[in-house]
Amino acid sequence: MAGIYLHIPFCVKKCAYCDFVSFPEGSVPQSYVDALLTELELVARSGSYPAAFNTVFFGGGTPSLLTGEQMQSILASLTAHFDIRESAEISMECNPGTVTPEKLAAYRTAGINRLSIGLQSTHDALLKSIGRIHTYQQFRETLQSAREAGFTNINADLMHGLSNQTEQYLESLNAVCDLGVQHISAYSLILEEHTPLFDCVERGEITPPDEDRVADMQDAGIDLLETRGYYRYEISNFAQEGYECRHNLNYWHNGEYLGFGVAAHAVVREKKWTRYANVSSLEEYYRLLTRGKRPLAETIRLAPRDEMFECIMLGLRLVRGVDRAAFAARFGFDVADAYPYAMEQLRKRAWIVETEQSIALNRKGLDLQNESLGFFM
Ligand SMILES: C[S@@+](CC[C@H](N)C(=O)[O-])C[C@H]1O[C@@H](n2cnc3c(N)ncnc32)[C@H](O)[C@@H]1O
Ligand code: SF4
Repeated sequence: MAGIYLHIPFCVKKCAYCDFVSFPEGSVPQSYVDALLTELELVARSGSYPAAFNTVFFGGGTPSLLTGEQMQSILASLTAHFDIRESAEISMECNPGTVTPEKLAAYRTAGINRLSIGLQSTHDALLKSIGRIHTYQQFRETLQSAREAGFTNINADLMHGLSNQTEQYLESLNAVCDLGVQHISAYSLILEEHTPLFDCVERGEITPPDEDRVADMQDAGIDLLETRGYYRYEISNFAQEGYECRHNLNYWHNGEYLGFGVAAHAVVREKKWTRYANVSSLEEYYRLLTRGKRPLAETIRLAPRDEMFECIMLGLRLVRGVDRAAFAARFGFDVADAYPYAMEQLRKRAWIVETEQSIALNRKGLDLQNESLGFFM
């Protein structure tokens, strides 16, 4: 299993909390699409990539700023250069307020079969206060149009910790459950430095909820989602049976993936496992591709110890945890033998579930994920 990620680094407007690489723009410049197509060709010519791909993911930024024709040209190039399996999951992130029924239909025709719609909250005043460009009603219209266009695999992104009110968060969760989306990502706000929200908190203009309150919100959210038929399979991700995001599962299983676009990453198994990172400056990205060079900022060959650590870091995000047999087949050790100190600490605190098949964090261990994973360092 291998995936392809494409980064579309443009947003109508930056949200107050977001530090993903994206630049304010009302549409995707054709020069960026052309640069992406050049990068796809360069990587294809290098011959250094997995034989086949089961997932493709357009992330951002706001991929739904692409026109139907732009999306069509990128997907045509992808399928011309790489073996994208017939059954591949092909996802895109989509912002309400940036799509029309026609555009959604064009995406579906081009081959997109999974949509991830950013909602964050169903409360318009809250959406406004964090700089979102849309209302809850616009989200519902987008969802309706997506269904009419034939999408049957839809995720909604929500966030908690944006306000002090647990009730507001639970209302949002209940509302998206009522709407019957297949998947819900429920993120806990990370207060990122260099964002307007961080600055407001620093100046004392906003007091975010304290850690305990956020943890209670998260717990209440997990309970609610489980009673509504969405099972938690990763710290922040919940799905109806059979609708887990296959692209993200590949990351968490530490599989191979290619990454295209500004600031995209790739992990490929060459002689050693290798991580590639693209430049995060748009100018530099264009400049290198114009000269026929790959827009790489960094190439890191992972030592086996680092590779093993990554497997643990990613695998323990999953409720199912790390598969012991797969880990042993890859590294020649059982997880418990490779990390005796961490295992002892986790057992002592009762944060871990050990079976013959897997090693996983329990709910407490997942709640205190940073602390739990810290023992493996
Ligand atoms: C990379 S964004 C792209 C999605 C799309 N542009 C949107 O906002 O609707 C994916 C998701 O990350 C989450 N996110 C962004 N910044 C975050 C932060 N600082 N803390 C927690 N979640 C965040 C939001 O839920 C967002 O929908
Ligand atoms: S949250 Fe989404 S829309 Fe908002 S700035 Fe980040 S990537 Fe853009």
